[in-house]
Amino acid sequence: MGCSRWVCIVFVLHLIYPGLVDSNGFSDIPKKLLDFAKKSEVFDWMVGVRRKIHENPELGYEEFETSKLIRAELDKMGVKYKHPVAVTGVIGFIGTGEPPFVAIRADMDALPMQELVEWEHKSKIPGKMHGCGHDAHVTMLLGAAKILQEHREELKGTVVLVFQPAEEGGGGAKKILEEGALENVKAIFGLHVEPHLPIGKVASRSGPVLAGSGFFEATISGKGGHAAIPQHSIDPILAASNVIVSLQHLVSREADPLDSQAYFSAANLFIRFSLGFPEVRILRAVVVTVAKFQGGGAFNVIPDSVTIGGTFRAFSKESFMQLKQRIKEVIQGQAAVQRCSAAVDFLDKDKPFFPATVNDKDLHDYFQIVARDMLGTDNVKNMNPLMGSEDFSFYQEVLPGYFFFLGMQNETLTKLESVHSPYFKLNEDILPYGAALHASLALRYLLEYQPKVSLLEHNHHDEL
Ligand SMILES: *[C@@H]1O[C@H](CO)[C@@H](O)[C@H](O)[C@H]1NC(C)=O
Ligand SMILES: [Zn+2]
Ligand SMILES: [Zn+2]
Repeated sequence: MGCSRWVCIVFVLHLIYPGLVDSNGFSDIPKKLLDFAKKSEVFDWMVGVRRKIHENPELGYEEFETSKLIRAELDKMGVKYKHPVAVTGVIGFIGTGEPPFVAIRADMDALPMQELVEWEHKSKIPGKMHGCGHDAHVTMLLGAAKILQEHREELKGTVVLVFQPAEEGGGGAKKILEEGALENVKAIFGLHVEPHLPIGKVASRSGPVLAGSGFFEATISGKGGHAAIPQHSIDPILAASNVIVSLQHLVSREADPLDSQAYFSAANLFIRFSLGFPEVRILRAVVVTVAKFQGGGAFNVIPDSVTIGGTFRAFSKESFMQLKQRIKEVIQGQAAVQRCSAAVDFLDKDKPFFPATVNDKDLHDYFQIVARDMLGTDNVKNMNPLMGSEDFSFYQEVLPGYFFFLGMQNETLTKLESVHSPYFKLNEDILPYGAALHASLALRYLLEYQPKVSLLEHNHHDEL
């Protein structure tokens, strides 16, 4: 036939993928999916779903109505799902039902806080609020489901939709994995809304992007007595105060907080400005904060005991475990200096340690391509890691995963409050961006990324 090889390939692609793949190959897909998600009937539907979830916030493992709403929407689209997974979780499937499998994830839970934003769709449940934007995360994943279901004929494998419970401290991701819901999944993508990044921009990085975190609580016991004769008491307040000072020293001595003065030495300036924080510094950065201090109740009584508690964070398992060990040693040692005893509890039975959120390098490269195709190169940002944490990290411990931030600040409107603020407001204009990014990442992964991986695996097997 009289066609060049290139034209023939395009022609064949056209036959296989009449809808999305054109003469530019896969690179137009993200923009096309964003246009689809911005269509008024899709956008208005997403806004409606999001407001419904916002009005009825539910805490971790209690997302029964949210779960029901998700299933009703999936039913309407004709998307199959598994339920219940991890109490309230829903796992949807779109595509061939065959491997490869790629997952996209949303968290469903709200926070135990009172919404202080006065608007028509304010939380109807006193003391509960979607203050972290998870109502939007659920909506965007439903939006992605709609997009993918519309293009299901073009999926070269199966997209797994993960609606997970209990991100805010409950370790819902861990439970999803324990129930075996993601076996055979090759990669997983997750996102979080970001009030301080402009709308139309995304940000992330390769390697650690959020910290691993744990909690600790210590009861320091002495001997109470009259505050006017402290020499007859063993003062736990004094001991606890020394513990806190020592914990702060521990952080500055043993590690390198990202903003430490030493960091700005001349030798490092070049690296910092050209590449961001060097990886070795990031892996050593830690934070310890004592946020709870409960002592006596009277002005003139030294109490028997004091309870302190807080959180500690690090970007690698190694520095995390080392920090945990040192926290225990410092608390017990400093308590002993004041002749007190200390019992240290890391509370990991109720609040499992979150590992650091560590992005897979190949998925980072892949994400950059897809996001640039949708948003333009200038709108895909690299960021420094943050000391916050995310239970998405549990997925990344067992399979390659990628987590990114979706900007939602509109310069022409008032500045948005941070997540977890009672004044947190969501910019609903971001819903199509999140939906289209989820859908593009999953769809293109199945089209272009996975075959390369299986080819490599295949070669590997041949060699053995
Ligand atoms: C920002 O807000 C204005 C006013 O509501 C709106 O016209 C514009 O489209 C918004 N920009 C984006 C990127 O959503
Ligand atoms: Zn949160
Ligand atoms: Zn969140």
